[in-house]
Amino acid sequence: MPATQETSTTSPIGRKTPRVDGPLKVSGAAQYASDFHFPGMLYAVPVEATIASGKVTKLDTAAAEKMPGVRAIFHRQNIGKIFRSVKGDGFEGIIDERRPPFEDDVIRYYGQYIALAVADTFESAKAAADVVRATYAKEKHNVEIDLKADDEPDEVETSFVPVKRLQSERGDAGGAFASAPAKLDQTYVTPTHTHNPIELQAATAIWEGSMLTIYEESQAIFNLKGILAQMFGLPKENVRVITKFVGSGFGSKLWPWTHCALAVAAARQLGKPVKLVLSRKMMFQSVGHRPRTQQRVRLGATTDGKLVSLQHDYVNHHAILDNYHEDCGEATAFQYSVPNLRVEFGRARRNVGSPTPMRGPGAVPGLYATESAMNELADQLKIDPVQLRVLNEPKIDESLGIPFSSRHLLECFELGAEKFGWSKRKPEVGSMKRDGLVLGWGMAGCTWVAARFPAEASVQLRDDGTARVACGTQDIGTGTYTILAQLVSQKTGLPLDKIEVALGDTSLPEGPISGGSMVTGSVIPAVFAAADKAITSLLTIATTTPGSPFEKRESTALAFESGRVFVKADGPADGMTFADLLRRANVRFVTGSGKAESTFGEKNPKFSMHSFGCHFVEVTWQPAIARLRVSRVVTVIDAGRILNPLAGRNQIEGAVVMGIGMALLEHTHYDPQNGAPINSNLADYMVAVNADVPPIDVHFLDFPDKELNELGARGIGEIGLAGIAAAITAAVHHATGVRVRELPVRIEDLLTSSILA
Ligand code: MOS
Repeated sequence: MPATQETSTTSPIGRKTPRVDGPLKVSGAAQYASDFHFPGMLYAVPVEATIASGKVTKLDTAAAEKMPGVRAIFHRQNIGKIFRSVKGDGFEGIIDERRPPFEDDVIRYYGQYIALAVADTFESAKAAADVVRATYAKEKHNVEIDLKADDEPDEVETSFVPVKRLQSERGDAGGAFASAPAKLDQTYVTPTHTHNPIELQAATAIWEGSMLTIYEESQAIFNLKGILAQMFGLPKENVRVITKFVGSGFGSKLWPWTHCALAVAAARQLGKPVKLVLSRKMMFQSVGHRPRTQQRVRLGATTDGKLVSLQHDYVNHHAILDNYHEDCGEATAFQYSVPNLRVEFGRARRNVGSPTPMRGPGAVPGLYATESAMNELADQLKIDPVQLRVLNEPKIDESLGIPFSSRHLLECFELGAEKFGWSKRKPEVGSMKRDGLVLGWGMAGCTWVAARFPAEASVQLRDDGTARVACGTQDIGTGTYTILAQLVSQKTGLPLDKIEVALGDTSLPEGPISGGSMVTGSVIPAVFAAADKAITSLLTIATTTPGSPFEKRESTALAFESGRVFVKADGPADGMTFADLLRRANVRFVTGSGKAESTFGEKNPKFSMHSFGCHFVEVTWQPAIARLRVSRVVTVIDAGRILNPLAGRNQIEGAVVMGIGMALLEHTHYDPQNGAPINSNLADYMVAVNADVPPIDVHFLDFPDKELNELGARGIGEIGLAGIAAAITAAVHHATGVRVRELPVRIEDLLTSSILA
């Protein structure tokens, strides 16, 4: 079934390729933002507000200032000027918390920074931060978890682009629902989720005159550069951001946070490099989270399972000053064929730090709700859940009235069902058993948007037979270093160890943000164009260098393959290597630059571009001790051409692990008393760990999507997390008879199960 491979067996594209940066990582040589040390460097520790709403009326810093090693306690009066950033075009100036740190004395969420202790050592700074005393005029905070949409205009501001509250509408969804023979009307809730990358957020700032360099674990170095230029009133060219390695981000490191501005401001005031590393507790307060969502899904269908109406109304919380919109309806309008549809969102303000994108923003909570509704409808109609989806497979994207560039969801279902053994499923609740355990089988589909962000890259061919590719994007742990090396290898025929990859530095050509699973798809055309230009320069040198065997030939008569320049008519054996040619010409290197335009947010797209997939899940239920485990997962992904199946599999497995956490464990609790995210550590905020993870069987369909780029590669960072929670909760219902519609599924929920072993 998978499409035929178009590349030869020697091509690095599509080959299982170990990380080229793997040795650096396992040997500890890879430098993360907090690994950089500089002479005279100072350490900063923020002081956090201990109320969630009110004002600071007095700040007592005297005791802290007298402590050994302390250089300064900064606050509103002495931090110096930090300007607000404003939005520009496209990706210019994206930030969730637009208010600069210390701009006023108002506290809007627990953990907001009110002061900053800077000292010679981290320990001294921490000790000083601990003795800064704040007096507050407290006001009533609101961290209420029941969300009702606030009154807002029809078109609302968001942190990103303005969005219409009525997201999509066709036909008469209300009328069709009212007259539908079969109906489902349920509300699904996802709690606040906190990103927990292993690497804590960190910033190290260095000023040299009016030049600012910052080492930060950023998923978007050029956006950070632009924001810092605005906040510190600098020409953009005076700011350099360096992000060599990122210990994962999941979205929390996409847009800049206030600690970064604090490190820069403190370094400016003291004239020394300043390092600021957040604590895990701060990671729960001030650097984003996935907001709580409440989603009402109404489905109307015929009794034989054809959808006639779909309504999706959702609300997410957001912070007092920000405008974050969790785009839960992202996939709703196109995933199934339905003539009558309405998708609308609302938001509710709370005294919380700003939410921000988290792996699969919008689609992940959204598909949990809509895929759960489809599963419930299937049960209600006694139709197999796969069959219900097949019945409602659309021919085109009905929300835009345009074809999909490449959609192979049905093949995903077919392969997934086969690998899982789905045909053996007995639909009755609690009817399947193995070794004294009750089995539950569930499934769900998934999708994630595909597009390209703007990208620039340069490729050099050097006289020592090596190449260098440079792109100011960043590797957030997903394998970007390796992909860039593979792309250059494909063009030049060089082995991967002869290719140097430079990224994570704003002094390089501007690369895409590491967001939306779009880096690979975006860099392909830029890197290929750059390599082509370098090769063209090489061929010009070949025909113009005195003494070159190709002198006075037309460059169109020459070819470049596997690192050799040769006359097309004569074949590669008679040619010479590009290194020999460059040496003969006394040229150190030739460089080509490539640039590719964005397709993101295109006004009149010809094709609807998305990746697709599905999950099949088995859980085991042990009623005597109320023990539920995910015991088996099969995931099939249609994400276009897979450039590196090893890294690809790693992404999907990681997402499934995160999905097990989402379904069964993850939940950030805000303490109603003081508004604090109360389980702000990795003991109380549970994520799935090795013991929670069963065998995960990942399959890729590998149909190239040539509308997106010439290799046909879409993205795979996020799609694996979409849908998995709906598959797990369906399996939980199949095993236990308990329908949980508020994540995570807790043991308490399952105590009502009437299924006995
Ligand atoms: Mo992803 S949430 O776009 O980093």
